[in-house]
Amino acid sequence: MGRVLSVASECVPLVKTGGLADVVGALPGALAPRGWEMRVLIPAYPGVLEKLGRVSKPLWRAADLFGGPARLVSGEAGGVSVLALQAPHLFDRAGGPYGGPAGDHPDNPERFAALCWVAAEIAGRGLGDGWRPDLLHAHDWQGGLAPAYLRQQGSRVPSVLTIHNIAFQGLAPADRRAALRLEAGGYRSEGYEYWGQISTLKAGLVWADAITTVSPSYAEELMRPEFGMGLEGVIRNRAADLTGILNGTDTAVWDPGRAPVPYSARAMKGKAANRAALLAECGLGAVPGPLAIVVSRLTGQKGIDLIVEAAPGFVAQGGGLIVLGSGEPELEQALRDLAGSHPERVAVRIGYDEALSQRMFAGGDAVLVPSRFEPCGLTQMYGLRFGTIPVVAATGGLADTVITANPAALQAGVATGLTFHPTDALALGQSLRRLVELHAAPALWAALQRRAMRADVSWEASSRAYAALYDRLTTRPGT
Ligand code: ADP
Ligand code: GLC
Repeated sequence: MGRVLSVASECVPLVKTGGLADVVGALPGALAPRGWEMRVLIPAYPGVLEKLGRVSKPLWRAADLFGGPARLVSGEAGGVSVLALQAPHLFDRAGGPYGGPAGDHPDNPERFAALCWVAAEIAGRGLGDGWRPDLLHAHDWQGGLAPAYLRQQGSRVPSVLTIHNIAFQGLAPADRRAALRLEAGGYRSEGYEYWGQISTLKAGLVWADAITTVSPSYAEELMRPEFGMGLEGVIRNRAADLTGILNGTDTAVWDPGRAPVPYSARAMKGKAANRAALLAECGLGAVPGPLAIVVSRLTGQKGIDLIVEAAPGFVAQGGGLIVLGSGEPELEQALRDLAGSHPERVAVRIGYDEALSQRMFAGGDAVLVPSRFEPCGLTQMYGLRFGTIPVVAATGGLADTVITANPAALQAGVATGLTFHPTDALALGQSLRRLVELHAAPALWAALQRRAMRADVSWEASSRAYAALYDRLTTRPGT
């Protein structure tokens, strides 16, 4: 077995704010059958050790890790082998992984630099139990400094950096260089310097041996200014080392066979019962047209404002809408107002609720994902699996996972949803009109659902791609 150390700020089932956690938590299980043993290094935020239950003796210690003592223990959660970094001065804080009500922690660069420093230490010296990785796999800006530290140490352990979202770049003022334990020589445009600041993501992009992102289309989009967000030049420089590998989903968890009323592609009857139960649960009246759902962070990225704009037209055509999410206060308020104007047809639940989200996928007819950019996206894949037709912006991973129901695709029997372009309220509204028409044609609709449910949203193909990449990076000439 090859050994991989995965370094990330989130991991299901221990801590999650978005899809990053799902992916980091799923990779070990997906890669084990392909000959790669993965351990996941994350910070021991409050509650993490409790969830891990039995943990090992410390496998590594430091008297001073970026300003205080630290140690590493291992444990298991949901089948994932976890290394939890205990450093109370950095991670024992109330709130989420990155901040609290007052905003992000000002020392976030140091907090995650510490995580990366420990990752590089493990790669260099191994753990107290003798485990030492053959490869390091870092995720997003929080893992970005790990490849940089490996390089600083002259380590031969190869590294992969996965970009889940380039919008977050790990910026820090240039005068924090020494505090971040970065060599002065790296502060240049070919290094970790980024418009007069430090970018931990850029450091990773420059020094990782290979870069991946979470869909082939996003890999191409990243080379354009609209999507690269200032890093497009860096990405273009490394185009030869960049691959897009689609995320998979946990098909054991996201399974219509586990819906409140179970159903499958062959026996769809249960879906109607789930729909009725969902309408009742959300206090909605009868919805003659398609019942659309949204499960999302409520941010500009996700195009939630477009839903607010397009919803009245959709409702007038017979549609219904249930939204679950939390995020920007203005968007939360706009959605509440929308529900207030259409109490029989629109319901909004502000918050985070995984069980409700499962009932929504089971009971909804369609899931809307009108993102302005979407590196991969997971909810459109949950939609496919549940026969809950995805209506998505044709960008990034959304474009790569949904085949739009245009006449040619319908005739060929390959359509799985609807994609629209450009990402604006007009195009979303036109797609919703198309959805209403398809929903009103029972034979077409049933075929669309069946086809969607047959789409492969597992880790099968993607785990093979990661394993091939790991194999390539660890096979040195002459070995
Ligand atoms: P992102 O990571 O950009 O937020 P993804 O689609 O990759 O987008 O992943 C989002 C994940 O978070 C999915 O698993 C989705 O079901 C989940 N999620 C988002 N908001 C909520 C919510 N309010 N309640 C439950 N699950 C949510
Ligand atoms: C990020 C992206 C999302 C992707 C997820 C997991 O949060 O916004 O598109 O699915 O990472 O890779």
